[in-house]
Amino acid sequence: MKVLGIETSCDECAAAVVEDGQRVLSNIIHTQIPFHAAYNGVVPEIAGRKHIEWIQLVVKEAVEKAGCGLDGIDAVAASSRPGLLGSLLVGLNFAKAFAWAKSLPFIAVDHILAHLYACNLENTGNKSIHKPVPKYPFLGLMVSGGHSFICRSDDFDDITVLGATIDDACDEAFDKVSKHYGFGYPGGAVIDKLAQSGNPKAYNFPLPNLKTKNICDFSFSGLKTAAIHQFEQFRINEETSKEANFVFSNEDLAASFQKTAVDILLRGLFKAVESTGIKTIVAGGGVAANSLLRTRLQERSDLVCVFPPLEFCGDNAAMVAGIGYQYLVRGETSPLSITASARVKGLKRMLSRS
Ligand code: KG4
Ligand code: ZN
Repeated sequence: MKVLGIETSCDECAAAVVEDGQRVLSNIIHTQIPFHAAYNGVVPEIAGRKHIEWIQLVVKEAVEKAGCGLDGIDAVAASSRPGLLGSLLVGLNFAKAFAWAKSLPFIAVDHILAHLYACNLENTGNKSIHKPVPKYPFLGLMVSGGHSFICRSDDFDDITVLGATIDDACDEAFDKVSKHYGFGYPGGAVIDKLAQSGNPKAYNFPLPNLKTKNICDFSFSGLKTAAIHQFEQFRINEETSKEANFVFSNEDLAASFQKTAVDILLRGLFKAVESTGIKTIVAGGGVAANSLLRTRLQERSDLVCVFPPLEFCGDNAAMVAGIGYQYLVRGETSPLSITASARVKGLKRMLSRS
């Protein structure tokens, strides 16, 4: 069964065709980054307008690349939440109109659940990257735009949040530090690249001392503030480096910041492993592309760590089509009256089943 997926929750205008929830026949992503870069962040009004301009062409491209023609599509899935309302509405309404015009089943998808599903995707153009599909239950490390949490996943749509950020999301810390130092936008990939040639021990940014009830919670605002405003204070061997005419290095700052951000994530995650006994970990979202996070998790030979291929970490429509197929297998579809929601109640702190 071939499902057309549409994803416009933020600044990527994406459409994809996926067969049987796994084989990606096409995965088209038109990024709006150049339109938002000047503002160092996504401007919702620009995002919505660009989606309106692009959506038809992006879907056309996805169907053509899949080679199945419009009549080869069996169902349509689209992100309906969470995200920027104006952006979500464009993709969602396009998908509903498409499904109605072609009399196809329609499925509205939570795009955060779709990020966790992305590890199941297999790009037909690159078979070597396919990994075995993780078995439930597993621990999900969700680090996408604006969301950072650890959950227990018992099914593709059944997650229990075990811990979450109490302030900034991880990707926000990456983006804001990058913005402050003028590294570029979005910050995650740029910091990751700079960090490759930096010294992660140049700055000793402290780990947050959390007093929350959830032992798996994390916090990124302290690290962000330290990295932005107080880096002098956290420089190791300050006296020595002053004498040696210390020169500020973007690479060292990036490496030290990234190491601490990954330490914060892993501290919460490993507590979740200890408290649940679950040894399979699935990462999802843009920050799951981070090279240090991947290396550090893969070093834990006692855990099974599954990452989506890089192209399916950030926002994409293949994950939406993939999870949409799983609802269809169960015989579940959505009414065309469904609308978009910017937020999902309880997603950040508690049970997400709704
Ligand atoms: O999941 P995603 O595409 O966003 C939404 O769901 O909206 O994640 C985007 C975020 C950006 O903030 C970007 O800086 C971050 O993912 N990101 C990374 C890396 N690549 C992208 N963060 C850390 N390391 C990376 N390699
Ligand atoms: Zn996303």
